[in-house]
Amino acid sequence: MFKNNIKNICCIGAGYVGGPTMAVIAYKCPDLVINVVDKNFERIEAWNSSNLSKLPIYEPGLDKLIQKCRGKNLHFSTKLKEAIEIADVIFISVNTPTKTKGLGAGFACDLKWIESSAREIAIYSHGHTIVVEKSTLPVKTAETIKNILHSSEGYKSENLSKPNRKTYSIISNPEFLAEGTAINDLINPDRVLIGGEDNDSIKIISNIYKRWVDENKIISTNLWSSELSKLVSNAFLAQRISSVNSISAICEMTGANIREVTKAVGTDSRIGDKFLNPGPGFGGSCFKKDILNLVYLCRYYGLEEVANYWEEIIKINLWQQQRISKLVIKNLFGTLSNKRIAIFGFSFKANTNDTRESPSINISKDLIEESAVLAIYDPQVSKGQILKEISSENNNENILICQSPVEASKNADAVIVLTEWDEFSSLDWEFIFKEMRKPAWVFDTRVCLNKKLLKKIGFKVWSLGSN
Ligand code: NAD
Ligand code: UGA
Repeated sequence: MFKNNIKNICCIGAGYVGGPTMAVIAYKCPDLVINVVDKNFERIEAWNSSNLSKLPIYEPGLDKLIQKCRGKNLHFSTKLKEAIEIADVIFISVNTPTKTKGLGAGFACDLKWIESSAREIAIYSHGHTIVVEKSTLPVKTAETIKNILHSSEGYKSENLSKPNRKTYSIISNPEFLAEGTAINDLINPDRVLIGGEDNDSIKIISNIYKRWVDENKIISTNLWSSELSKLVSNAFLAQRISSVNSISAICEMTGANIREVTKAVGTDSRIGDKFLNPGPGFGGSCFKKDILNLVYLCRYYGLEEVANYWEEIIKINLWQQQRISKLVIKNLFGTLSNKRIAIFGFSFKANTNDTRESPSINISKDLIEESAVLAIYDPQVSKGQILKEISSENNNENILICQSPVEASKNADAVIVLTEWDEFSSLDWEFIFKEMRKPAWVFDTRVCLNKKLLKKIGFKVWSLGSN
């Protein structure tokens, strides 16, 4: 039943996780054949584009890996059936967003893409297949996947020796990469987590990672610990950001400086200095949905106080975005009517083109609501993507998409830095100042600019977490 020498890997879902993760596995394991499949034809076309700047995901270092492996042992296609049929191991890397309607709407995870993947596997797989949960999932999802697979017609728990009988092992192997640093995170992970019920399958999946990851960093647990650990890791990370952002507000009131406070606090080795950057609130597709998922789980088990505790992290995050919008309006004399505001950065963090849950979305919408004209510049997010996030029938005239920071800030009343792209700190701010309407404001929500220098040039400056 077990094939110790696996050859063919299939990954369902060619997104931010599936694409980069499989590119790294293909690069590190040239003897394995990896088929990344997706139902989204345009996405697959983009992965196969000969122009590497057209890949569907912007991620530093990804293009080089794709160039090295694509067409050799890494293939992108929409042919799910063929890829599943020959696979020894199938990674499920599909999206798992929050449910928008029905039972648990607004909190629970929508498992419809997981379910459809499991159904496809049940239909097309042959012999023994290791099914790996790569997506982030509610605890006990492995049970659901198992039920779907085991109720398929071809599955039989007896007569396992017959070659065409379908059998499965389910493994949880959550992904911890962060966008913008995905390739480095995958090549040098802090840990690889593998949860499962049978040691043979855990060993097979460990052996893939052992090609480049130190054995000590490979942690094996039971299925439920693995599924829960992923949610908890994201909850802890988001909690740190909400904590630091809440303190940024106290700093502004008291004359303390958030950078000085985080340095002083972070040098305590028990606390650590990472992930203490203040900002306009966390974005990205996962923190919010994974905490909501955890909150739902707590309520499901009757742990109301625990649920409320974690839910507060999301509330503070939204509050941080709203307070930034409010103080921009307040400083611009309480009205944004006939004012041009330059938005520097639209992605949810630097070095990605991903805009999911970006704080720029809510803040932009708040400012448009006040009749501002926004001139938006982001080095990687496309015009179409920005408009998709914030435009509506009534506000098209309020949104301009610009090709450079200089173009965006011309005649603007204010610049708001919402993403910490490196290029913003080295701009010709003197030139920008000259071209803006006065008083010229800079709102630095990422604390990434030289406040003293800007003030010296003549700007009015608000920088998060200091006064
Ligand atoms: P994504 O939306 O970028 O990609 C998911 C892909 O799956 C889409 O292209 C979609 O078309 C495809 N898909 C859905 N159902 C399918 C099916 N039945 N058959 C074939 N293709 C199907 O999502 P993502 O950002 O890659 O996230 C995937 C999972 O990984 C989520 O659970 C997420 O929480 C988790 N995760 C994401 C990150 C991240 O940085 N984005 C990091 C760690 C974990
Ligand atoms: C996050 C986690 O870091 C990954 O470990 C995890 O795998 C991933 O979620 C996931 O499950 O999707 P990601 O969202 O890509 O990764 O990026 P982060 O670097 O965590 O940033 C998330 C948000 O927090 C961004 O908006 C970022 O600007 C903000 N942030 C981050 C801060 O405001 N301050 C910080 O110090 C760090």
